[in-house]
Amino acid sequence: MFSALWLLAAAVPSAVAYVVNNGTDCYVYPESLVNDGEPTDDTPSVLQAFQLCGVNGSITMTEGNHFYIDQVMNTTNLENCNVNILGEMEWSTDVPYWLSHSLPVVYANLSTAWLFGGTNVTIRGYSKGLFNGNGQTWYDENMGQGNQPGRPIAITIYNSSNVLVDSMTWTQSQFWNSFVSHSSNVTMSNIFMNSTSDDGNDTVNTDGCDTWNSRDVSFYNWTVTGGDDCISVKGNSTNVYGRNITCYGTGAFPIGSVGQFPETPDYVENVLFEDALLVDASNTAWIKTWQGSGESNAGGSDAGGGGSGYVRNVTWRNMVNVNVNQPIYVTQCIYNSGEADSVCDTSTVQISDITWQNITGTSRYDVAGSIHCSASRPCPGLKFIDVNITSVNASMGLPTPPELYLCANIVGQNATGANSTGIPCNGFAPNNFPQQLTMNY
Ligand SMILES: *[C@@H]1O[C@H](CO)[C@@H](O)[C@H](O)[C@H]1NC(C)=O
Ligand SMILES: *[C@@H]1O[C@H](CO)[C@@H](O)[C@H](O)[C@H]1NC(C)=O
Ligand SMILES: *[C@@H]1O[C@H](CO)[C@@H](O)[C@H](O)[C@H]1NC(C)=O
Ligand SMILES: *[C@@H]1O[C@H](CO)[C@@H](O)[C@H](O)[C@H]1NC(C)=O
Ligand SMILES: *[C@@H]1O[C@H](CO)[C@@H](O)[C@H](O)[C@H]1NC(C)=O
Ligand SMILES: *[C@@H]1O[C@H](CO)[C@@H](O)[C@H](O)[C@H]1NC(C)=O
Ligand SMILES: *[C@@H]1O[C@H](CO)[C@@H](O)[C@H](O)[C@H]1NC(C)=O
Ligand SMILES: *[C@@H]1O[C@H](CO)[C@@H](O)[C@H](O)[C@H]1NC(C)=O
Ligand SMILES: *[C@@H]1O[C@H](CO)[C@@H](O)[C@H](O)[C@H]1NC(C)=O
Ligand SMILES: *[C@@H]1O[C@H](CO)[C@@H](O)[C@H](O)[C@H]1NC(C)=O
Ligand SMILES: *[C@@H]1O[C@H](CO)[C@@H](O)[C@H](O)[C@H]1NC(C)=O
Ligand SMILES: *[C@@H]1O[C@H](CO)[C@@H](O)[C@H](O)[C@H]1NC(C)=O
Repeated sequence: MFSALWLLAAAVPSAVAYVVNNGTDCYVYPESLVNDGEPTDDTPSVLQAFQLCGVNGSITMTEGNHFYIDQVMNTTNLENCNVNILGEMEWSTDVPYWLSHSLPVVYANLSTAWLFGGTNVTIRGYSKGLFNGNGQTWYDENMGQGNQPGRPIAITIYNSSNVLVDSMTWTQSQFWNSFVSHSSNVTMSNIFMNSTSDDGNDTVNTDGCDTWNSRDVSFYNWTVTGGDDCISVKGNSTNVYGRNITCYGTGAFPIGSVGQFPETPDYVENVLFEDALLVDASNTAWIKTWQGSGESNAGGSDAGGGGSGYVRNVTWRNMVNVNVNQPIYVTQCIYNSGEADSVCDTSTVQISDITWQNITGTSRYDVAGSIHCSASRPCPGLKFIDVNITSVNASMGLPTPPELYLCANIVGQNATGANSTGIPCNGFAPNNFPQQLTMNY
């Protein structure tokens, strides 16, 4: 602490609050250092640093220090800026503040604590940077419920191009850990996220990352523990690539939900996830669309259905499942509840050219997957190559029925030989087959 204080004192002429800047390099020190260690809001200093050094500069959250973030941050319009986070940023637990101040991100009425964006920007943690969302407060306050308006996404990369986020840790995220929206060429590598509840309240909606209206987004070497999707590809995502990813809990790698609103079609194409380990996931390699007609209210705070679009050229390969509830799943009525099951056949979102390759390991029950394409848009080009999933019981040598691959409305699902889809289709995938199973079928 002494050397940091000395540095502050030495730099006083050019220091603004607790930002020391020489030229366009800004170094942020926490207010608590000169406030008897009392936690003090560092948001003004951080924002000041972005003001001073956000264009053709660098911002360093100085090493080993603890920064208290009590307010929303909007640091957009950065250019050629390197952000180094060498300490911990901890978000406050003032729930009423966040509920009324989180910044909107447009998608599904969600909002964020930090709206971040620009061109040619890096955020590097050098394995020291930590985003601490203090999420326990949210998990308790929210008590296992889903989307709560105002519950903030930790950081949103918005309207950006050429962004690298590297060697950062997130712990107990408030809501989604990260969101990439309206951006291109975003890479997030060497990422560690762990949202685990300290009590019996679930961490619901602590997704690792979601992409939306973005292209050329890559994820390398992630380890995620969380209460929702690991990395989720939402509407209008193109060229998404994920490699070497381990997820504990989570819903692994879904495409969707897409097709929520008739006025905004969703297009998803060219997605590849490879080399992943999924432990205790709900699902691994899956696609979820809204139904085509009969508006559903079941998707949390937002109703929907009736949207169009497509999901095409998606591959999941080299995935090891450990006790995954239902590894492969395609539904075209994800939020249907209470309506006639036939609404599952009304979606006009066209799913095509999807590959599941080298998908192995264990399913919790005797269902490897259920694929129910909408009867209104049967799915062509579905390929299953070296898909071999064993139920947990069978893997322990217990007597179990043969593993089930349930199919409906897959183009050519009964073809054999060279034209076979690659799975036996040894059962019918009912309308509205559950996403999470509770028993053998
Ligand atoms: C700013 O000061 C730091 C030391 O605090 C030094 O490493 C860096 O090179 C300096 N940058 C410029 C542009 O002078
Ligand atoms: C963020 O700041 C930019 C630039 O000042 C502004 O245009 C934009 O409206 C702000 N966004 C939000 C959600 O407040
Ligand atoms: C971003 O970097 C590229 C390549 O280095 C450069 O051509 C471009 O001008 C930069 N953009 C801005 C806004 O500085
Ligand atoms: C994409 O972003 C990276 C930084 O992550 C940058 O090095 C690269 O030049 C960018 N690519 C293009 C085509 O701008
Ligand atoms: C992969 O990411 C983890 C953090 O989850 C990090 O500790 C490890 O060094 C990274 N591996 C490589 C090869 O960079
Ligand atoms: C995540 O945090 C929980 C609780 O602190 C801990 O038990 C668990 O081992 C952590 N997960 C990983 C992958 O480190
Ligand atoms: C959830 O959080 C509430 C509020 O803090 C607490 O009273 C309750 O005991 C927690 N529930 C469980 C199951 O831990
Ligand atoms: C792949 O992931 C594992 C487990 O997280 C990590 O230890 C390893 O460093 C990663 N390898 C690369 C090349 O990133
Ligand atoms: C997706 O992009 C198309 C334009 O290509 C646009 O019309 C549509 O509204 C976008 N969908 C969403 C959900 O943003
Ligand atoms: C399909 O996606 C892969 C991986 O993302 C990409 O390499 C390939 O070019 C795409 N194919 C077509 C026809 O666009
Ligand atoms: C199948 O996936 C596993 C796990 O990622 C990998 O170790 C193995 O090499 C893959 N097999 C082939 C033939 O690629
Ligand atoms: C499928 O996996 C099981 C369990 O690992 C193994 O015993 C079996 O030989 C595999 N089948 C094929 C066709 O590879």
